[in-house]
Amino acid sequence: MAKLFESISLRGKTSRNRIWIAPMCQYSCEHQDGIPSEWHLVHLGSRALGGAGLVMCEATAVHPDGRISPWDTGIWNDDQAAAWTEVTNFIRQTGALSAIQLGHAGRKASIYRSWSGEGPVSPADGGWQPVSPTDEAFPGYNPPRELTTEDVYASIDDWIQAAKRAVAAGFDVIEVHAAHGYLVHQFLSPITNQRTDEFGGSVSKRATYLVDIVAGIRAAVGEEIPVLVRFSATDYRADGFTLDQCAEVAKLCEDAGADLFDISSGGIILGVTIPSGPGYQVPLAKEIAEEVTSAVATVGQITDAKQAEEILQTTGIDIIMIGRVSLRDPYWPLRAAHELGVEVDYWPNQYTRGKYPN
Ligand SMILES: Cc1cc2nc3c(=O)[nH]c(=O)nc-3n(C[C@H](O)[C@H](O)[C@H](O)COP(=O)(O)O)c2cc1C
Repeated sequence: MAKLFESISLRGKTSRNRIWIAPMCQYSCEHQDGIPSEWHLVHLGSRALGGAGLVMCEATAVHPDGRISPWDTGIWNDDQAAAWTEVTNFIRQTGALSAIQLGHAGRKASIYRSWSGEGPVSPADGGWQPVSPTDEAFPGYNPPRELTTEDVYASIDDWIQAAKRAVAAGFDVIEVHAAHGYLVHQFLSPITNQRTDEFGGSVSKRATYLVDIVAGIRAAVGEEIPVLVRFSATDYRADGFTLDQCAEVAKLCEDAGADLFDISSGGIILGVTIPSGPGYQVPLAKEIAEEVTSAVATVGQITDAKQAEEILQTTGIDIIMIGRVSLRDPYWPLRAAHELGVEVDYWPNQYTRGKYPN
């Protein structure tokens, strides 16, 4: 039996296999409302029908300031949470788990989606001033306002309230987006955090924002809900957030109640060389898996069933996440099962006449 198709349980939740859909922004809300639309239902529902063990919704803002663009999904109010219920209900009916990635873009907020414009959103189009640990801008973006210490505590509470709404909306799993140069990563990285209050300084102090979010979410959602953290495990700069620091912070998150680390990389700054190629982030995830007792996921250019199986067989990694390949083939998990010779019992009944080799 292929490991890729073994189930895995985190707390009370069991994923039918180890193929998870990576979070992918769709920028497809009505301008400014943050309410998931029919697009989200069909897009996420299709990937659940395609046989994934877990479908993760895109980075969803915990506060309006935290949207990347005015078309991002949110969960800072109850209308948004109510709309997400339709998505979680459908995903549940397919036998997949539903997850939401909670996010805050920090200084990388308020830009156009690629098909509506370029660069920072103009005030006439509803643009806003981003917030960040310091007032230094991401190149090409609007200068952010530095969060006061009081603002940081209020922001932690935004994440906790968003997590409560997510559970009320039926999500099985919650992920905290601490990667790709967004707000949590801006606290973690010494490149973007020169604060002198309790949220800046040593690694553990830079991690306080994240650790307080994880602990707060754990206390708010109880023991049944898995809490994941997506890290950029390196800034690809010696003076940035490093793999060693990532392992240290992951352990602090474990103590605070996190269950799985989803390992990505980069995004804090431009001008660094990010390696690319099949499975380019696997070595980072493998290192983290050696350091923590929690489960670990890898992501990035994993496009082939045998490649995915080999990663699980030869590293301590527990989960394969797929992103872009699932945009061109929502049924990738069902195809992977066929290619690995595994018989799965979750072909949708409506689709059985399309089963391989017909
Ligand atoms: C359209 C698109 C949107 C994305 N949005 C997010 C996001 O909301 N949150 C996130 O952590 N990563 C996001 N990513 C990164 C993916 O989750 C994934 O890590 C990346 O695409 C590498 O995996 P892949 O090679 O399988 O696509 C996005 C990627 C794409 C292609």
